[in-house]
Amino acid sequence: YSSEQQNIIQAYEWSTKLFHHVLRHTSDGKDGLNYLKNRGFELETIEHFQLGYSPQKDQFLSSFLKGKGFELDSLTEYGLLTKRDGNSYHDRFIGRIIFPIKNHQGKVVAFGGRSTQPEMEPKYLNSPESQLFQKGQILYNFHDARKHVQKNNREIVLFEGNLDVIKAYQAGVKNAVATLGTSFSEYQAAILNRYADHVIICFDGDKAGKNASYKTAKILKKAGLQVRIANIPNEMDPDDYIDAYGAEKFKKQIIQAAESFVSFYLNHLKKQYNLSLDHERVTYIEKALDIIAQVENSVERDFYLKELEDSFDLYRDTLEKEIEKRRRIKE
Ligand code: GTP
Ligand code: MN
Ligand code: MN
Ligand code: MN
Ligand code: MN
Repeated sequence: YSSEQQNIIQAYEWSTKLFHHVLRHTSDGKDGLNYLKNRGFELETIEHFQLGYSPQKDQFLSSFLKGKGFELDSLTEYGLLTKRDGNSYHDRFIGRIIFPIKNHQGKVVAFGGRSTQPEMEPKYLNSPESQLFQKGQILYNFHDARKHVQKNNREIVLFEGNLDVIKAYQAGVKNAVATLGTSFSEYQAAILNRYADHVIICFDGDKAGKNASYKTAKILKKAGLQVRIANIPNEMDPDDYIDAYGAEKFKKQIIQAAESFVSFYLNHLKKQYNLSLDHERVTYIEKALDIIAQVENSVERDFYLKELEDSFDLYRDTLEKEIEKRRRIKE
């Protein structure tokens, strides 16, 4: 790190401690603490993630950091403060829950700030991108999740939101990371690939989450990872699901039951065709065969072929010939 960057990292470290202290031990932090408690977060979890609260005061952090001798201009550039009228420095995350975002070396290099009131927009305010913080390169909680990959069958669980990661941690799923509100990148896939063999995508159950799952799965596959996709019902997200059904059900029925990439892909594909029309049905089956032919494990191939056979009342012989044809071309 350059000396300016070391300085910024120190400022983030102080700010993390200050906001955490406010949340845990002061009356200025009551709103924040109540918000987190109402959403089902326990003190132990709040401690582990060093969550904080930026109080409803204009120059709370800025005067604190000024007192510590920090150069406020560069703190502004790295997103801790804002500058008004060219000379006065103000807090950036006023009235928000603070999520310290660590880089992969474990240093806090950015904050995510969630509003505690529905009328406070935007819902999330993050530190801007800087030389220390690139959203497409950092995965939330990666530094800690990494320690839990080995004992979880070299598996990592990928979420959309930092709150999902935190709630999953509380439910006992500690090999959890999240993208930071941007689309998943090849760079991030390469990082995961260095530490894990399997990725479970556990995105929100809404349409946006499904589409993002599909795109993300393709990137992960391309990087050489094995991918499964969790299905969360009723447009819930992982955090909602855990609140509604509890930790055990989340682990059993969502994480452990995550679907293989191929069957997720086939279901996704199926929705794009009107299967009551002959020619569309044929197109779907051909595309499905293209995918199934790429599965290396013959038992797994057999399993998907059986499904096609049963759903469309086809001859098994025909299906197998089509698979062989496709596999021969591949060789
Ligand atoms: P809650 O609504 O608090 O439960 O959070 P969530 O994680 O469920 O939010 P959502 O599913 O809407 O978004 C997923 C992720 O996208 C969040 O964790 C943020 O990182 C990001 N995100 C959502 N809304 C915003 C926003 O208004 N601004 C920015 N910068 N990021 C956002
Ligand atoms: Mn503490
Ligand atoms: Mn969403
Ligand atoms: Mn969500
Ligand atoms: Mn949510």
